[in-house]
Amino acid sequence: MSKGRIFSGMQPSGKFHLGNYLGALENWVKLQNEYECIFAIVDWHALTSQYEDTGGIQESIHNMALDWLSGGLDPERNIIFVQSQVKEHAELHLLLSMITPLSWLERVPTYKDKLQQLGDIGKEINTYGFLGYPELMTADIILYKADTVPVGEDQIPHVELTREIVRRFNSIYPPVFPEPQVKLSKAPYVPGIDGRKMSKSYGNEIPYAAPPDELRARARLMITDPQRVRKHDPGNPDVCTVYTFHKLFNQAATAGIAAQCRSAEVGCVDCKKQLAERMVEELSVIHARRAELAAHPVKVREILAYGAERARKLAAATMEEVRAAMNL
Ligand code: AMP
Ligand code: TRP
Repeated sequence: MSKGRIFSGMQPSGKFHLGNYLGALENWVKLQNEYECIFAIVDWHALTSQYEDTGGIQESIHNMALDWLSGGLDPERNIIFVQSQVKEHAELHLLLSMITPLSWLERVPTYKDKLQQLGDIGKEINTYGFLGYPELMTADIILYKADTVPVGEDQIPHVELTREIVRRFNSIYPPVFPEPQVKLSKAPYVPGIDGRKMSKSYGNEIPYAAPPDELRARARLMITDPQRVRKHDPGNPDVCTVYTFHKLFNQAATAGIAAQCRSAEVGCVDCKKQLAERMVEELSVIHARRAELAAHPVKVREILAYGAERARKLAAATMEEVRAAMNL
């Protein structure tokens, strides 16, 4: 029995890393058993900050599809598609823009933050499209009348805005949309090799598609307890990045590993080796699936086209209702 309908999306910007996998994708793979799920590679959203550099976007979309499928998202059970292949997202975005007060968009906290952040590094995104980022996200969600939106904490203000826009639409016109709810993924906070949040903007990431030798090299570079200088010093696993990864990849062994660290029985070099081998083991299954799919790009395109076709049917039905409600 399905608990409801989920919509979520990710921007095809750059390389997928273990933060994306453990923090988001792994959760989606679980949700596909409980909900009717629609997942979009949101390429129009990527344009809001990367409009100048679109040369690599098709490759990024293809890679993201490989990442999702190899990670276990089932293209039959879920609808998996590329946002720009379903034009109804643009139509609904336009219609919603008519009823959305400018001040609602301007006060979204991520708006000013990111404008400033990117402005500081000389990137000009003071555009109409960037201001409308959460408006487009609203269109994504409500086009499918999704009731549940699994996202990270940073996206809460966007879904809050979605709810406000829905209430406004439903009060001006005959009601069409349900108010969606955020479903905070119990996503682990995944640190990068330097201990800060894993992010490609810090250069501390472990690529999801990294081959075994790269995984081993990244594990060797992880920071450990800074107080533990020599092997026979007792360590504190609670402040160690390697231990955090043991918890993510090596759940069954964590109690033993923590004890061996505290008693200085096992040194950091060996502890990192153990971790690397566990990561290689778990990811090699995914990498084999990924390589097999990568050898069949036509099949991947067909999967995305099939998803878009199914998405379009749902989207077209909603747009009929929207046009009728608005007398268009
Ligand atoms: P981004 O790469 O920022 O577009 O994020 C895509 C998805 O991965 C979002 O759902 C994030 O919440 C999740 N994510 C990214 N980095 C991390 C991290 N270091 N830890 C946990 N989740 C992450
Ligand atoms: N803004 C989301 C992010 O950066 C991606 C996204 C676009 C999304 N449209 C969505 C997420 C709709 C959930 C629902 O992570």
